Amino acid sequence: MDIAVIGSNMVDLIAYINEMPKLGETLEAPDFKMGCGGKGANQAIAAAKLGSSVMMVSKVGDDIFAENTVRNFQHYGVNTDFVKKVTNVSSGVAPIFVDKSSQNRILIVKGANNHLKPADIDQAEVRLKNCKLFILQLEIPLETVYYAIDFANRHQIPVILNPAPASPDLDIQYACKCDFFMPNETELEILTGMPVQTMEQIQQAANSLLAKGLKNLIVTLGEKGSVWLHGNEITHIAPHKVNAVDTSGAGDAFIGCFAHYYIATQDVEKAMQMASLYSAYSVTGLGTQSSYPNKTEFEQFQQSVK
Ligand code: RIB
Repeated sequence: MDIAVIGSNMVDLIAYINEMPKLGETLEAPDFKMGCGGKGANQAIAAAKLGSSVMMVSKVGDDIFAENTVRNFQHYGVNTDFVKKVTNVSSGVAPIFVDKSSQNRILIVKGANNHLKPADIDQAEVRLKNCKLFILQLEIPLETVYYAIDFANRHQIPVILNPAPASPDLDIQYACKCDFFMPNETELEILTGMPVQTMEQIQQAANSLLAKGLKNLIVTLGEKGSVWLHGNEITHIAPHKVNAVDTSGAGDAFIGCFAHYYIATQDVEKAMQMASLYSAYSVTGLGTQSSYPNKTEFEQFQQSVK
């Protein structure tokens, strides 16, 4: 396998809203979309749609959503041998609100994702130790994330850690054991307690995090592009201007695509450029995974923006 994603899956319940209701108020929203999501699953599907071989280590609940989630992984060729069911628990769900400017606000109910434990990594050991890259996020217990990082280090497998959603409890020493640490600007703000309104502020916040000993810090900045810091070097990848309708899952599209091209080329800048384009495409469609292009669609998009 190229990639192992040890992480979450959720059912996205997306309401397209004109405005957020006030306390006690009921408002009508013009549209709704349900789809497969979850940061881990989104990243796995993005890489798989581009042609990577991907395995998922994840937990689903004991409800009507579980089977559909597993079927969805399988439909895109993601290996589900280690996607296990937990009884008497709901699957993860994510009510999402997307406003008229395409920006999203997300709530997550982790459900079964909270039951992904270090023992689940042990069960998948034989398969995991032959993977070329791990991708981790923070929608599963931190102890499992740490265990996966130590496992990867023991087997010299590179790790991407996406600290999403940002957790003040994250032990930065574990982030330093990863090859890539990839927050978005909101997560950077929460992790550092520093403002991130301007590029200069973003750089200052990023540098303060890098100084803790990270190997490579890549910050995704939405319509400002992305930035890679390592050692004393900083590389800014410019954004692609598109007509955005829904930004949900764009960061996950970036990470899944980055992983795919990084494995293929070992070229960080090239992988970021491709990921930037891929996430730009994703915001032009509704939903999370449903807005990710497959290899052919992505190649056509690359031609169109040349
Ligand atoms: O990053 C977007 C994802 O965050 C959504 O798919 C939702 O499920 C939450 O996990």
